[in-house]
Amino acid sequence: MNKFRTIVWACMIAVMPISAAIPEMKTDKERMDSFITALIGKMTLEEKLGQMNLPPSDDIVTGEPQSSNIGAAIVSGKVGGTFNVKGAEKVLALQKLAVEKSRLGIPLIIGMDVIHGYETIFPIPLALSCSWNMEAIEKSARIAATEASAAGVNWTFSPMVDISREPRWGRMAEGAGEDPYLGSEVARAMVKGYQGKNLSANNEIMACVKHFALYGAPEAGRDYNTVDMSRLRMFNEYFAPYRAAIDAGAGSVMTSFNIVDGIPATANKWLITDVLRNTWNFGGFVVTDYESIKEMTTHGLGDRMHSAALALKAGTDMDMAANAFVSTLKSALEAGMVTEIEIDTAVRRILEAKYKLGLFDDPYKYNDVRREKTSIYTEENRREARKIATETFVLLKNEGNLLPLSKQGKIALVGPLANTAANMPGTWSVAADFSKYKTLLQGLRDAVGDKAEVLYAKGCNLTADAAEEAGATMFGRAMRDSRCEEELLSEAMAVVKDADIIVAAMGEASESSGESSSRANLELPDVQKRFLQAMLATGKPVVMLNFSGRPTVMSWESENIPAILNVWFGGSEAPDAIADVLFGDVNPSGKLSTTMPRNMGQIPIYYNHLMTGRPKSKGHNGFQKYRSNYLDSPNSPLYPFGYGLSYTTFEYGELMLDSTELNTDGTISASIKVKNTGGREGTEIVQFYIRDMVASIARPVKELKHFERISIKPGESKVVTFKITIDALKFYNSSLEYVAEPGQFQVMAGPDSERLSVKEFILQ
Ligand code: NOJ
Repeated sequence: MNKFRTIVWACMIAVMPISAAIPEMKTDKERMDSFITALIGKMTLEEKLGQMNLPPSDDIVTGEPQSSNIGAAIVSGKVGGTFNVKGAEKVLALQKLAVEKSRLGIPLIIGMDVIHGYETIFPIPLALSCSWNMEAIEKSARIAATEASAAGVNWTFSPMVDISREPRWGRMAEGAGEDPYLGSEVARAMVKGYQGKNLSANNEIMACVKHFALYGAPEAGRDYNTVDMSRLRMFNEYFAPYRAAIDAGAGSVMTSFNIVDGIPATANKWLITDVLRNTWNFGGFVVTDYESIKEMTTHGLGDRMHSAALALKAGTDMDMAANAFVSTLKSALEAGMVTEIEIDTAVRRILEAKYKLGLFDDPYKYNDVRREKTSIYTEENRREARKIATETFVLLKNEGNLLPLSKQGKIALVGPLANTAANMPGTWSVAADFSKYKTLLQGLRDAVGDKAEVLYAKGCNLTADAAEEAGATMFGRAMRDSRCEEELLSEAMAVVKDADIIVAAMGEASESSGESSSRANLELPDVQKRFLQAMLATGKPVVMLNFSGRPTVMSWESENIPAILNVWFGGSEAPDAIADVLFGDVNPSGKLSTTMPRNMGQIPIYYNHLMTGRPKSKGHNGFQKYRSNYLDSPNSPLYPFGYGLSYTTFEYGELMLDSTELNTDGTISASIKVKNTGGREGTEIVQFYIRDMVASIARPVKELKHFERISIKPGESKVVTFKITIDALKFYNSSLEYVAEPGQFQVMAGPDSERLSVKEFILQ
């Protein structure tokens, strides 16, 4: 036993029952229970409430700024943890206050929004999900954990697993897109990556699954707005990734800002206790989102003391930034609004998390300040980030095989995102060090060396409206050019005049997506469109790189620009990764994890929708009266879920089943042959969907149930098989029972959610 825990044990032994004093005879769980029971026995009410308090540090402010005087609060036992402090020395100083200056010496839990990397930044999570590469996603989380832990962080507010079909909502950038199956796979991979084997190593940190629940479905796409949905939809469409993350062992969960069934998630007993804890057997602790308890008052649930009591009674354990538990629960207890048992239960869960992290064995486990110097932003980590980034880009269009480019002649790089290092990593890069990152211009120049010339002009600002641009470029990432539109354009025209090809870096600023970045219009701003028109008018070939944290409405671009590569926000190594794909050193393989709409009016648009009673006739292109369609738009998306091109081509055979009947304990093998019919090796993501043709409730037209990422050489064929069992056919019925109903099913396979080969089978 380590020295620190020996001391804590020694002071506690006097108050313990004899059995608790013989740790050797106990299981790990019993040992933990005894240790924590004894510790709680020594705590004053104030110290208990202190453990339930998570004030922000003053270091990186991601919510309403607060002046916390955190040091004094830690010493007086009023703090259980803090978050978003950058730097091993700073964290160590805080941890020392807790361990050496507070009465009981309970270590702090140290959180951070390590959402897609620490200093080595990986692509935004939405992009990562477009790689459909779970091994890579797990690795990205592993590296993030290794770097963050070297800087003293032992808890990350990730993964964000909110399903979203709402691209107006800027936080779509932080999740894995629209699909419950893909979202669940990503959730599992990230939890495994962060937590490693069992949290015992000093580079394994605790995951926090967020935002529980349904945060991705705000009305009108406005952040923090009302969410209202049926329980059927919750269970069948939105809950799966949270559940997957819990099943993967995530140690903590963060509640969401929104209401669920009329009650703020933070105080929703049905959600936190009945579903999360009792049905899904979640054994970790629940933290609120930033000031959520305070916001309950604004939601109309009553004053702070009442809100805090409701949150505690619902099963919330730790209060982030609202200062509500620590300042009101004593009075609430005296008034009989809460019980000491409820407080002790919350405290126990928080202490358990610290115990599982090994902080009672060694409170400085994550404070090896030497590690910070050698483990962060290493060559090896950057190499991984660059490789993973190349797998997230989605090639949307490539007319006449314009891409890849050859490294020769004159390449004009233009556009508002061409020469800005700060806009490469993407939203929620709180630990980023922008001074270390390249711009795209540097990336392309490094890639071509002296083989080609890369010319540059900005061409236009992100938006015509300076105020709008300022709102989208926080964290010091402002980059506006004060020249007027005409001046910028004429400079660009002079530059592209000599070029053989134009590469236009267009789209959103990093902070145009992310928290509090809802947008009512998802088209490229007019100023960018006008600029693209001018580039096309030169008659030179134009390649558009679209930077975005969400689907962009690109009907005009898709019609007029010959090649479009969606690069999302690819992280700190994005410039090199983009060059890798542009010049064909890497063949693109990303596929959309979110549907790209043709226009704003189609939103929400997602592939796994229900059937209406009056669907449009198959193959009918125009408007159909008394059918479910628009007078002025097709129903179909611009680019469907699962879509993405390669520099090679793949030909799919017919889907084959080894049986058309499935028994409840049986398996059907559904196989499809995929041939690389192009000239280069490529990676294809083969997708399988299922449709339940007749059921007790209306079921989606298709649901992703399996996928494989395979690499195929030119001329080579591979067969991909999906072993269908009853598990792939289950859903929640009207009584919320998880069942598979006998009857007819379709299985479909293909390169995306639309181009599918279909076969039928019967579940007996
Ligand atoms: C608010 C965000 O909603 C949440 O995702 C984040 O983890 C916290 N702030 C802490 O920064």
